[in-house]
Amino acid sequence: MIDEQTLSPKEQEALAAARSARRRAYAPYSGKQVGAAVITESGAIFASCNMENESSELWVCAERNAIATAVANGERQFRTIVVIAPDSRYWPPCRSCRRVIAEFAPDADILMCNGSGLVHRASLNDLGSIPFTGPHHGEQH
Ligand code: THU
Repeated sequence: MIDEQTLSPKEQEALAAARSARRRAYAPYSGKQVGAAVITESGAIFASCNMENESSELWVCAERNAIATAVANGERQFRTIVVIAPDSRYWPPCRSCRRVIAEFAPDADILMCNGSGLVHRASLNDLGSIPFTGPHHGEQH
């Protein structure tokens, strides 16, 4: 667990973009607004938020939307994925997001940021040991 102040300038920039995207999250069903951003190999940053639906099968997580936004802008290689949670916990990517991360960014650093300025840095591989069950995940899908 590290303080967000110790992130690289580019990572802090991505975190700020994720925070700002979080405010645009569409999460009327869970009430949990999440933001995410990716840093591409070329150093570009794309941010997005979660987007829910009356049908919970159609909820899309912030990090998957951020990857999709980058892909739509011609970027497929990512150094870093930042997720900013709505509370003091860490929100590790759900099973679906892990598959999308595995497709495009198996070696990316995943920075899970809580709402209190603390960051957990992990690889996709490390996530195997981090549980992702809990009320904050649409894992039932
Ligand atoms: N969510 C994300 O956007 N990213 C995560 O890493 C975990 C969960 C979203 C999905 C849903 O809209 C809300 O958080 C509650 O599960």
